[in-house]
Amino acid sequence: MRDLDIVRRKADHLRIVAEGEVEHREGTLLDEIHLVHQALPEIDLDDIDTTTEFFGKTLKHPFMITSMTGGADYAENLNRAIAEAGARLGIAVALGSQRVMLEHPELSSDFQVRNYIPDGVLLGNIGAVQLKEYSPDQIAEVTKQIEADGMCVHLNPAQEIVHGEKGQQDYSGLLDAIARLIDRMNGQVLVKETGAGISPETIVKLKSIGVPYIDVSGSGGTSWTRVEAYRTTDKLHEKLGMTFADWGIPTAFCTLAARSICKESVCIISSGGLRNGLDAARSIAAGANVAGFARPVLLAFLEKGAERITSWFEEVIAEYRSAMFLSGARNNEELHRVPRMYTGKLLEWLNSYEIYDRVKV
Ligand SMILES: Cc1cc2nc3c(=O)[nH]c(=O)nc-3n(C[C@H](O)[C@H](O)[C@H](O)COP(=O)(O)O)c2cc1C
Repeated sequence: MRDLDIVRRKADHLRIVAEGEVEHREGTLLDEIHLVHQALPEIDLDDIDTTTEFFGKTLKHPFMITSMTGGADYAENLNRAIAEAGARLGIAVALGSQRVMLEHPELSSDFQVRNYIPDGVLLGNIGAVQLKEYSPDQIAEVTKQIEADGMCVHLNPAQEIVHGEKGQQDYSGLLDAIARLIDRMNGQVLVKETGAGISPETIVKLKSIGVPYIDVSGSGGTSWTRVEAYRTTDKLHEKLGMTFADWGIPTAFCTLAARSICKESVCIISSGGLRNGLDAARSIAAGANVAGFARPVLLAFLEKGAERITSWFEEVIAEYRSAMFLSGARNNEELHRVPRMYTGKLLEWLNSYEIYDRVKV
């Protein structure tokens, strides 16, 4: 039943991401945000409050598992484990692209995980390019079918260059299509990249149509050009994939720039290469409301299912709370304003965009 091109592709992705050397080589630059150590923070560690609001619900911690999969053989188990862990931890969960569900409704069961996260934030996912093929009503319908709180719309032009599928590289008219979806879904829409980052110019475009949630998904983590280069059997696409393997905008810069442009009007998610709770703390200090993780969650799942996803996040939570304590932040709001120093390449990015003066604390 699962002998379909799209299913094979999803299965290849999981295998390559799990086994291959798929990380971007130039890093997130989050380690160039130095949170300043406070030897006298005047806080009781037990009083630290990490709760935050997201899609109209309260998260216990400002974290989300960003979109991964649906369609591939073990996708149902993975999605179930992610939902179970998300519910236990009180963090948000997004499922992978539902394109497979639109094209092959018989595979919908991969996405039916609401039972496992009855009260938490659960989001669907679709490619922006699919918004030209399917109407806002159809997208709203697949969101409803999985009882999600909203829909993530992904932008992945770099991946599509290497994948080379006809039609998927037509990025014309997408801003209007996203605007129509936001209207149809009463604002319950998150626009995300997939690891190459969202530039200040793109942030301005997204803000102009009132996108309420933006996940910058910057470079420094899983590189989808690299993944597709390993996967393709076509020489030209392999060459393209390796040439653009480290293409993208580092997560630290994307996050700082997004917050400086959006002020308080947009909920910013920082993801792409976050690998521990200190990366998350640096992301929230840079202005994100929520920090997102993908590949480490897949690796934890492959190690020991929902149990290991949960214990991995418990480590992240302990690291995050420690970073807050040591920086003198009682809650996420205070973490936005703690003293920090920016160095190296990150400073060069900030200076070349003349953003440094706006993100100094
Ligand atoms: C196995 C896997 C499958 C993914 N599939 C999707 C997807 O269907 N839709 C999407 O928007 N992003 C997808 N992503 C991208 C992630 O949501 C994320 O933006 C990117 O991997 C960078 O985060 P990371 O460095 O933490 O992996 C996928 C990531 C992984 C690891």
